[in-house]
This record gives sequence, structure tokens and C-alpha cells, in this order.
Amino acid sequence: MAEIKVEGLRHVYSAGTPFEKVAIEDVSLTIPQGQLVGVIGHTGSGKSTFIQHLNALLQPTSGKVLVGGRDINENKFTRRDVKWEVGIVFQYPEYQLFEETVYRDIAFGPRNMKLPEDEIDRRVREAARFAQVGEELFERSPLELSGGQKRRIAIAGVIALRPGVLILDEPTAGLDPAGCRQILDNICSYHKESGSTVIIVSHNMDDTARIAERIIAFDHGRVAMDGTPEQVFSEPEKLIAMGLDVPKATALAMALKGAGVPLDGSIYTHGQLLRAVLRAKEAATC
Ligand SMILES: Nc1ncnc2c1ncn2[C@@H]1O[C@H](COP(=O)(O)OP(=O)(O)O)[C@@H](O)[C@H]1O
Ligand SMILES: [Mg+2]
Repeated sequence: MAEIKVEGLRHVYSAGTPFEKVAIEDVSLTIPQGQLVGVIGHTGSGKSTFIQHLNALLQPTSGKVLVGGRDINENKFTRRDVKWEVGIVFQYPEYQLFEETVYRDIAFGPRNMKLPEDEIDRRVREAARFAQVGEELFERSPLELSGGQKRRIAIAGVIALRPGVLILDEPTAGLDPAGCRQILDNICSYHKESGSTVIIVSHNMDDTARIAERIIAFDHGRVAMDGTPEQVFSEPEKLIAMGLDVPKATALAMALKGAGVPLDGSIYTHGQLLRAVLRAKEAATC
């Protein structure tokens, strides 16, 4: 269980070539143990590059990443150990399922950790429960299952490492609304029950507003906004200027305000919108 501290992080791809690209610039932040963080930003803003630094898959061009107070890039052992502590579910992780059965796929990580067989079994069943992978699927081939099922198997495979920090890069990309909701609900209950830090990269503002305790917005490789959903969605114009969507309730509140309805407060859920409209109605009839 570990706090993440990022200090002056900068990452340059293909440095010194004509393809040089500064992907992350001057990022410093701390993520305390147990926080549920939403990372948002336009395509190419540096989200995936950033998260890959948190388990040493990418090394900083300059700056440091500390997990539990330890520089994860100190040597090859710290770089290896952090892979168990910080687990990443990549975008479209279902393409990384390659074992013959669902069980073996979920067990792949714990087996690599050289855990005893009964501990592997315990972890596979626990991870499958969190990710809602029914045990009746254990002996099936992952290849013959639906897109949503494959995605949940891949998530279970990372949860089975019992990482102190679980990072998911666009975990709902390409799924239908029911599949999205199921995965996000699973992630929320995993966060509550395990006490792990969870970092979700997402394009979907409604989902992020609904589940995150803190939102970090990237723009051109820098942190442009960092705060509670209430703080971040109180400045919707800033998000729109970064090329981002805002939650549906926020967009509707902006339209109503534009039409002269005096709504107050930060609005990013339907409940907040409804209450603000009722307050405005009450004030108008006083
Ligand atoms: N392997 C790579 N080589 C060169 N440039 C890259 C590589 N990966 C990403 N980039 C560039 O770095 C920037 C940030 O990309 P990325 O971190 O993938 O952003 P996001 O996840 O927000 O879409 C983009 O301009 C992207 O084109
Ligand atoms: Mg990305």
C-alpha cells in the first residue's frame, strides 16, 4: 500500500531525432493511498505516457516517480518490484489474452510471482468475483467469449496481482452502455472493498464525474486542472477550451444559464441540476 509522488516529470519520445516529441512536461503531484482518481484529457495530451511512468514501464527523461517513498527507477530490482505494486490494465486489454482457458489467463500474473498453487487459486477466484467473471467460464477459451467478458477477464488478471495501485487506461472504450456501467460498478466496489488506489483514464466525463474523488486533466503534456469533481466542473469553459466534453448535466446547466436561468453551484450530476433548477424556481416565485 503506497503513496505515489511524481516530481518534475518530463518525458520526451525519440529525443534527438526529427521525430522528437515532448509528451509530458513539468508534472508534479501526489496521489495518497486509497484515492480514486480520474485522469482526463484530449487524445495526445499525455495520459497514457503519464500512467506508464507509475510502474516504470517508461522511464522519465527527467524527474522522479516515488512509490511508498522509494524511487522506482533506482535500479532494476525497484523497477521489477513496482510491477507487482502498481498494476496497469491497458486500453483494449482483451488483445493480450492468450492462455487456453479463462482460469489460466487470470492466474498468469500470480503464477509469475511464483506463489503457491492454493494462493494462486484463492487470488483467481477473488479477482474473478471482483471483475464479475463467473466461475462457470473458468474452463472456457477466452477467445470464444464476448467483448465485455474478455475485458473483465483482463481486468481480473491484473486484480489477481493484488496491486496496491490499480490503473485502468480507458477501461470502457468500445463497450456498449450496459457493459460500461458494469465495469465501472465493478471497479468502484473493488476500490471500496480493497482500499487500493485506483486511477482511471477516461474520455467519458459523465462516468468520471460519477465515480472519481479527484480529477486530473492533462493538456499538451501538462496538468491543466487538478481537484475534486466539484472544483473541476465548476469551470466547464476551461474543459471545453481543452477540447473536452463536459458531463451532460453541466452542458444543460450552461445552456440554461445562457438562456437567463440563474443556476448556482457546480453542476455535474442530474441530481445537482434538478436541485439548482428547483432553487431557481423557488427564488423566482418568492
Ligand atoms: N511511442 C511513441 N513514440 C513517439 N511519440 C509518442 C509515442 N507514444 C505517444 N507519443 C506521442 O506523445 C503524445 C502523448 O501521447 P499519449 O500519452 O498516448 O496521449 P493520450 O494517452 O492522452 O492520448 C502524443 O503526441 C503522441 O503522439
Ligand atoms: Mg492514451
